[in-house]
Amino acid sequence: MDKQLETLKEQLRQQEKMASLGMLSAGIAHEIQNPLNFVINFSKISDKLLNDLTEIVEDNIDKFSDDDRHEVDDIMADLKENMAKIAEHGERAINIIQDILMASRGKENEFLPTDVGKLVKEYVWLAYHALRAARKGFNISIHEHYQEDIPKILVIPQDLSRAVLNIVNNACYTVWHKSLTAGDDYTPELDVSVSMDGGDIVIRIADNGEGMSDEVKQRLFENFFTTKPIGQGTGLGMGITRDIIENKHAGSLKFLSTLGQGTTFTFTIPVRT
Ligand SMILES: Nc1ncnc2c1ncn2[C@@H]1O[C@H](COP(=O)(O)OP(=O)(O)OP(=O)(O)O)[C@@H](O)[C@H]1O
Ligand SMILES: [Mg+2]
Repeated sequence: MDKQLETLKEQLRQQEKMASLGMLSAGIAHEIQNPLNFVINFSKISDKLLNDLTEIVEDNIDKFSDDDRHEVDDIMADLKENMAKIAEHGERAINIIQDILMASRGKENEFLPTDVGKLVKEYVWLAYHALRAARKGFNISIHEHYQEDIPKILVIPQDLSRAVLNIVNNACYTVWHKSLTAGDDYTPELDVSVSMDGGDIVIRIADNGEGMSDEVKQRLFENFFTTKPIGQGTGLGMGITRDIIENKHAGSLKFLSTLGQGTTFTFTIPVRT
């Protein structure tokens, strides 16, 4: 009994730590937004100034020697490219920060009216960009179908986004892994849809990756079951995902998988408004 109490207390301490960590990262994210906006705005202003400068140089190009002209052209081109990079990566950082703010908006276990299509879309692209950043040169073709006119429904956005992220991460991983050995005619694909079916909202995420063997299907939800190399997976994702869909949202999580062909996960969640 004492031991159980100790374990419970420890769990509580952990939860409190995670909650304050969430608050902290939201605070930091918020603070970083301002200087980042400065970086982006000034890079845009500098780009305009550079255009003005280019015009002046072009008007006076006959005053330069051939060598100087080439050098000036090269420098101008480089500067323009750098400016575009600063703006592009600045925007990317802003997007990441907005995702962090989104994720830490709700309190733990708090049901909030949520645009589920928008939430799914955000996390699909978050996973996609993370993968693209980690595995240079790799690409996935993503097909999305979000039914319009779905009202906001009550879900725990923090948890649902985690569930979506895990499924999409797994999907991205399997199509990437398959692409290492598949022929040139293999196009990694993801199919994502959110729709209403009677009183349920249905989220479907399908990949044309490696599919699962019977053993993997049986052990899918087992904690610490992973087929990924050390450091790439802990094997907790699917257990957490099922808990979020079935226990926290009273929904169901189903999957269909064919070895070598791909896998489809379906979340069905009863609508609460
Ligand atoms: N879309 C999929 N296609 C093929 N196999 C999959 C797919 N999703 C999951 N699996 C298999 O199920 C295993 C368990 O998945 P799970 O998400 O629980 O853990 P993980 O992805 O290995 O690690 P993590 O804890 O980081 O999520 C994976 O290692 C993989 O073998
Ligand atoms: Mg996973």
